[in-house]
Amino acid sequence: MKRILITGALGQIGSELTLKLREIYGADQVVATDIKKNDSEAAQSGPFETVDVTDIKQMMETAKKYKVDTIMHLAALLSATAEAKPVVAWNLNMGGLMNALETARELKTQFFTPSSIGAFGPCTPKHHTPQDTIMRPTTMYGVNKVAGELLADYYYHKYGVDTRGLRFPGLISYVALPGGGTTDYAVEIYYEAVKHGRYTSYIEKGTFMDMMYMPDALRAIIDLMEADSSRLKHRNAFNVTAMSVAPGDIAASIANYIPGFEMSYRVDPDRQRIAESWPDSIDASAAREEWGFTYEYDLDKMTQDMIEKLREKL
Ligand code: SER
Repeated sequence: MKRILITGALGQIGSELTLKLREIYGADQVVATDIKKNDSEAAQSGPFETVDVTDIKQMMETAKKYKVDTIMHLAALLSATAEAKPVVAWNLNMGGLMNALETARELKTQFFTPSSIGAFGPCTPKHHTPQDTIMRPTTMYGVNKVAGELLADYYYHKYGVDTRGLRFPGLISYVALPGGGTTDYAVEIYYEAVKHGRYTSYIEKGTFMDMMYMPDALRAIIDLMEADSSRLKHRNAFNVTAMSVAPGDIAASIANYIPGFEMSYRVDPDRQRIAESWPDSIDASAAREEWGFTYEYDLDKMTQDMIEKLREKL
């Protein structure tokens, strides 16, 4: 991994991954691309190109222009938006992924794309969900993610493309806001806690989902990409997680640092249904065994850091 092209570089993960990679590999070695430029640091701190991932010509030409040896394909719609616009989601999530994989095949690059806990479904074992298990998601986002995992495996087996991937849980960060996800509450709650001392959750108090703090997620991506290929049995879509929490747990953790923090609930049936179809807690032992996955932030440590950083930011 020396010269990297990122799609969706101005999104939730890309905004921070771009900066982190530029720090490690050099600013000029990391080409950020997205559908529109903005004035964020990711767009301004090194090469940026406008790329619509559904346009393979544009993607291929950009990758060739910079002679990249790695593609990190992040551009996608999240679960709640995909559920509201399933056809758009299919075209963007699957079309974009096919174009990115084809670019990787043609230019013989390494390849990363994230999957998600959304790849699991209601008949998946809910607790300590194994790496290899029943998937059968009931959301368009989940269908895209499972198909994406399989496609990435296919490109490895059929064409020898060095594809790798992680099944991310909800990602929490103070830098870029997610948009249209089911786990977004776990980010919004910190913003509202710092700004107003209260939050109304659209997910029920006791609904568990896995979460992870962004610094751990970024390190996991880089560690996986740098791992010795011969150690990887799964390659695509390793389960990774740092905590299994419900809205009530995050609220209690925040109340330790913001006394008087008030939590109320007004459940959104659409996102609640999605959340209930996902696991309560996933098992990350394959990631630990095959490439040494670890994390640093548990709920309490993350809460402390989020509140401190948001107080500076807001
Ligand atoms: N955070 C994503 C979502 O909620 C899950 O991968 O859609």
